[in-house]
Amino acid sequence: MPRLEGKSAIITGGNGGFGSKTALLFAQEGADVLICGRNEETLEEVRGKVAAIGHKTVAMRCDVSKEEEVKRLFEAADREFGKVDILVNNAGLSRNCPIQEHSTKVWHELMSANLDSAFYCCREAAARMLERKEGGVIVNIGSIAGMTGRDVSAAYAASKAGIVGLTRCLATQLAPSGIRVNAVCPGPIPTAVFRDFPKDVQEKLMGTVKLNRWGSTADVANLILFLSTEEGSWITGEAININGGAFMG
Ligand SMILES: NC(=O)c1ccc[n+]([C@@H]2O[C@H](COP(=O)([O-])OP(=O)(O)OC[C@H]3O[C@@H](n4cnc5c(N)ncnc54)[C@H](O)[C@@H]3O)[C@@H](O)[C@H]2O)c1
Repeated sequence: MPRLEGKSAIITGGNGGFGSKTALLFAQEGADVLICGRNEETLEEVRGKVAAIGHKTVAMRCDVSKEEEVKRLFEAADREFGKVDILVNNAGLSRNCPIQEHSTKVWHELMSANLDSAFYCCREAAARMLERKEGGVIVNIGSIAGMTGRDVSAAYAASKAGIVGLTRCLATQLAPSGIRVNAVCPGPIPTAVFRDFPKDVQEKLMGTVKLNRWGSTADVANLILFLSTEEGSWITGEAININGGAFMG
């Protein structure tokens, strides 16, 4: 029996590395999937691959750092699926800059893409899940940077630490209604966001991984899937590290 039969899911940044892999796994497990992102071409490419699995698949251009666009995203989910069972807040940006070169513009850009976006989406999803009274699942993508403060930029680390606080607060508020909220906090994995870093930063980050292979999008997507199924049904409020031993906390 597919583990997400009859479920509908929204995956933000569903055209990117972790997001597209998660969309494929969700569809393989029977879910209808709405992916959103900012690039229509890559969205359509991923939509085609996911739709080929045989379940309803919708792609929508949406900048999740904008409240009004997030409202439209959830209205589209209402129209297309009539319900939202699972939300994966995966969209995110990173920048590598030391504090003395860290502009206010970059601070706001990262906070809005990584944290405001998750807040807007969680609020829309929670309202629908509470009204429907059939529970639900939210998975927020954090980062090793939010756990350790290590590397890249203050805005990235702060936004990803914020993801953990948001997750635990909502998990507490929503648990009595059977809505589970968890965070997945990956270590360095060579996707687009990672390949934007200078080579020496990439090598430094990869050097922290203790297992003798790099992580993959499938490693992360499988954890998101597990948390979204019945198998993860007694887990809430957790921020789960997945990093090949780069940080053990
Ligand atoms: N790859 C890593 O090493 C790593 C490690 C820890 C955490 N993460 C986090 O994992 C998540 C997914 O990243 P990825 O590695 O798959 O990179 P990615 O760049 O392939 O995917 C990120 C996606 O989010 C989209 N996005 C960014 N801002 C958006 C916005 N405002 N509105 C809509 N879409 C937006 C991007 O266009 C892209 O499709 C991100 O939140 C990232 O911070 C990645």
